[in-house]
Amino acid sequence: MKIILTSPFDPVSEREMEYIRQYRKTHGLRDIWLSVDEEGILDHDTRVALLKKAAAYDRRLHICETSETGEAIEPLDEDTIRKGLYRLAAKGIRKDLITEGYYLDETAKAMCNPHRYAHSKSVAQTAVKLAHAHHMDEKKAYVMGMLHDITKAFSDEQNEQIIRLYKPEWLSLSPKVWHSYTAVIFAKQNMSLTEGDIAYAMEHHTIGDGNTDYAALLYIADKIEPLRGYDVSKQTASAMKNLKKAAFEIREESKAYILKTEGIHV
Ligand SMILES: [Fe+2]
Ligand SMILES: [Fe+2]
Repeated sequence: MKIILTSPFDPVSEREMEYIRQYRKTHGLRDIWLSVDEEGILDHDTRVALLKKAAAYDRRLHICETSETGEAIEPLDEDTIRKGLYRLAAKGIRKDLITEGYYLDETAKAMCNPHRYAHSKSVAQTAVKLAHAHHMDEKKAYVMGMLHDITKAFSDEQNEQIIRLYKPEWLSLSPKVWHSYTAVIFAKQNMSLTEGDIAYAMEHHTIGDGNTDYAALLYIADKIEPLRGYDVSKQTASAMKNLKKAAFEIREESKAYILKTEGIHV
């Protein structure tokens, strides 16, 4: 008898994989089929591809190419995963979620206030445009844009705790800078971020002291995204030509502004 279990698998979680293994055991089945519901945040084919990857270790787990009727199983942890806890996704797909930028919109929406969410999205879009102009990886640019302020809503106390543990040398810096690093720690611990270019660019996005092209790209995108509401046509034109030069110019302008308004040399 062909037993089919159906769910949105949006995305498939480790607890769901465990449930399926247990189901097969308790029902004495050799093979089992899984079918992905039509509706979901990710499109059907993408969820099928992810499910196939998650089930690849077991030849007795079969994935239906199209939606088929069967026994519906309750989604477990899927909503929590979509809010940034990718570590609850099935083992084989955690890295795909972050690399492909899946659910970053939902994650940013869940972790940021509406203003910060809109800014993050706008930074990501600006970063993608810059990456396109400079033949850089547009997916990386999108991911770093969406994630760079992900811990901005944490309290100073929360951020300080993390900094004390992982980056104590930053305790002497302004608390305004701390989210640059706590965002990296959050993404590494909860979202399986391992990509060095992204982590480095995020870490340096507030001060603008990174020395890679991706660090320059994110620093600029954060400063020139259209929702900032000031005229950035000069900086944008410069960034389209030369990222590092533009980042240097923007940083100098920013230093001069802080000196003028706050009387502080940075
Ligand atoms: Fe920031
Ligand atoms: Fe930002």
